[in-house]
Amino acid sequence: MVSYKELGLVNTKELFKKAVAGGYAIPAFNFNNMEQMQAIIQACVETKSPVILQVSSGARKYANQTLLRYMAQGAVEYAKELGYPIPIVLHLDHGDTFELCKSCIETGFSSVMIDGSHHPYEENVALTKKVVEFAHKNDVTVEGELGTLAGVEDDVKSDKHVFTQPSEVEDFVKRTGVDSLAIAIGTSHGAFKFKKGTDPKIRLDILAEIEKKIPGFPIVLHGSSSVPQNLVKIINETGGKMADAIGIPEEQLRSAAKSAVCKINIDSDGRLAMTAAIRKIFKESPGEFDPRKYLGPARDSLKELYKHKVVNVLGSNNKA
Ligand code: G3H
Ligand code: 13P
Ligand code: ZN
Repeated sequence: MVSYKELGLVNTKELFKKAVAGGYAIPAFNFNNMEQMQAIIQACVETKSPVILQVSSGARKYANQTLLRYMAQGAVEYAKELGYPIPIVLHLDHGDTFELCKSCIETGFSSVMIDGSHHPYEENVALTKKVVEFAHKNDVTVEGELGTLAGVEDDVKSDKHVFTQPSEVEDFVKRTGVDSLAIAIGTSHGAFKFKKGTDPKIRLDILAEIEKKIPGFPIVLHGSSSVPQNLVKIINETGGKMADAIGIPEEQLRSAAKSAVCKINIDSDGRLAMTAAIRKIFKESPGEFDPRKYLGPARDSLKELYKHKVVNVLGSNNKA
């Protein structure tokens, strides 16, 4: 058993309490490799923001759970070396079984998500409660989910939005003992969130109703990339094919972050930033073959994107 405390990581409890009270959200950025980790830590140290480093099942398959855990441990030291020791959470994104959550808790994760949203309600309650009981014995915090997001949630596929029912949240939170709740209010994973010509809007009215049922309880938004059109343009101009990629307008996320939304998940925008930077270099310098010469600029572009998110979308700058 490796406790996250030995690694210098923190759970989400205090961070969420302060975020809800302060009207901002903590960034939850996915990472799969060293460059992403460096960009996240550099951006959050420079803006003095706490951060949640999150590991999806895709990331575990790609990079190995143990390596990612050691990288998070390295991130704690890296932040100190950069001159400002920010609070860092290591979080399992979209955990789908009790066994997976348990293995992450036993190997140094400080927070886990158990995503039982695709199960019938009572099964979701039972599974989430089981994870919470184990996690809390180890002072690890747990995120549950109610409602499903359109698109792909790792291996969990759904092709339509099923918004979170405000009438269920109080019962779910009470019976499971979760520390935070991910809700479905019209966000979705990936870079194609809305059809061209439709209004890219999330249901802030449902969020308000949910907040009335569980005042001050930490709410999480998945699928919160905004798909910056300048990045899509670069990708399309350099040989990519991402016609009609559309995300969540940043103003809507900013207004959600001012309420009880205290964790906002962003992955796809980072993928776009890296892809745009690499495509541009390959187009402009076709002779380049040193990975540092394209991964380095991709990392810098990612860092700028994350700084922008922290300051202009989440409002978590100077909260570390
Ligand atoms: O929730 C989805 C995240 O963007 C992670 O996706 O499994 O492809 O790493 P992934
Ligand atoms: P995006 O695909 O919108 O970045 O969402 C990421 C996410 O929710 C990770 O859990
Ligand atoms: Zn997600």
